[in-house]
Amino acid sequence: MLNEKYRGFLRWVVYQIYPRSFMDSNGDGIGDLQGIIQKLDYLKALGVNALWLCPCCQSPNDDNGYDISDYLDIMDEFGTMADMDALIAALHERSMKLIMDLVPNHTSTAHRWFQESRKGRDNPYSDFYYWFDEIPNDWQSAFRGSAWEYDALRGQYYLHSFAVSQADLNWENPAVVQAMQDVVDFWIQKGVDGFRIDVIDMISKDFEKNQNGFGPRLHEFIHALFGREQARLLFTVGESGVQDIDEMARHCAAERQELSTLFVFDHMECGRADKFTPRQDTLRSLRDLLVRWQQETEKHDLFPALFSDNHDQAPMISRIADDQALRYESATDLAAMLYLLKGVPFIYQGQEIGRTAAHYDSIDCFDDIESIRAYRGFCETMPPEEALAKINFGSRDNARRPMAWDTGKNSGFTTGTPWIPLHSRDREINAARDLSAKRSVYRFYQALLRLRTAHDAFLDGAFRVLSSADDPFFIYTRSWKDETWVIVCNFESRQKIRLPFGCEAPALSNLCRHAADGEYLPYECAVARVKKQ
Ligand code: NOJ
Repeated sequence: MLNEKYRGFLRWVVYQIYPRSFMDSNGDGIGDLQGIIQKLDYLKALGVNALWLCPCCQSPNDDNGYDISDYLDIMDEFGTMADMDALIAALHERSMKLIMDLVPNHTSTAHRWFQESRKGRDNPYSDFYYWFDEIPNDWQSAFRGSAWEYDALRGQYYLHSFAVSQADLNWENPAVVQAMQDVVDFWIQKGVDGFRIDVIDMISKDFEKNQNGFGPRLHEFIHALFGREQARLLFTVGESGVQDIDEMARHCAAERQELSTLFVFDHMECGRADKFTPRQDTLRSLRDLLVRWQQETEKHDLFPALFSDNHDQAPMISRIADDQALRYESATDLAAMLYLLKGVPFIYQGQEIGRTAAHYDSIDCFDDIESIRAYRGFCETMPPEEALAKINFGSRDNARRPMAWDTGKNSGFTTGTPWIPLHSRDREINAARDLSAKRSVYRFYQALLRLRTAHDAFLDGAFRVLSSADDPFFIYTRSWKDETWVIVCNFESRQKIRLPFGCEAPALSNLCRHAADGEYLPYECAVARVKKQ
């Protein structure tokens, strides 16, 4: 049984915003905080009650805000601190919450701490980063190449697990822990309600085991941030490479006062052999992983973060469902599979209108540092067309194209020139068109979230899976007290589905079914209350 604090979190429905690409209010081609304020009613009407904003702090944007140069100031392109205060107030007025993105593993090399640190070995910031006379190991940067870079001013090498301009902070130095506590406290004072924590597993290194993360002091450091009195009520979700439930429990068991939950990524491999290589796959592989995490988190009194997409991934429907002729069915079926499970739903911008992967004929249409570096690497061993196909498949820019609001100029995203080319399917997939369609993904999400909120069964209700691993569909129930709901999600082929109990008429269905039993079309889904005996 979840404790009271965690049960409260199950009422959160989070919408993730990539501010750069959400809505531009001032015509500079870049999304901003005032743009988000303009769209709050659209989000409130969808049924979400919390926003997670990707980083909004000052940054040279080599990794679009994940390279922070000042944690206590707003990125110029996004607005001012007054805009942030206005956003927080506008959210709270609507009973909505704000989750900030905290990036504790690294700063931009433009950050004052790094600029001071590189000046020499005897200033207050000299040990804020990892400095070595010789390269100590073979660690690689996530964006390819060595994770060590020589700095001529300091005359030493520093660690950068990501871009050369993202230097890893040395958490072994108590002053770094203190500095990051100050950052957390600053944003608590501002009124934020939670944090998403970037690559949390990396803040403790294990040089002895030659492991860049999951080091011996990881839990001590997390506790130092969030175990403190002022941070205990926050909702905290860590981005982490955790892969098993015991490890998750070590981060999230309520009594540890570390994190509320984690983003676990094993289902991100559905439909791909690696990030840039497709693999034939269906919704089955996703179902099996969802079932496993439901069962395991339930046993351990934990809850998962329910997500299929984010700013680092190409949309899930393009990998394991039909993003062409049955795009509406696929987008809604996936939502029913995922968001009626136990946990906290995270909806990535554009998911609610069934956005898919994009396609371009030139690498010049891409901006993402990871994609550009991967492309260069691929071109060393394959023809450019093949390399481009890989980028089109896996690029993070798939998720970072401007949100398409309507069919007007620049899809209603900006009156200026967008910072990155628009989504290649924006004429077909945009909010205005979806909302006026007979079958609307947005309206399905709306109905689903309404249902989820209205019945306790969808919150802390017990999860039971009725379909087996061989079935080409997913059937599960959620039960609370004497009420049980069944969720039936068919996969890619037509199926006759028999349920072992009688049901009321579906309260939710993507193709207007009248009965939960019977023949299902591809990607058809229905949610119905089980008749009491
Ligand atoms: C994970 C973030 O989600 C990603 O966008 C970023 O590039 C890396 N961490 C580095 O901060």
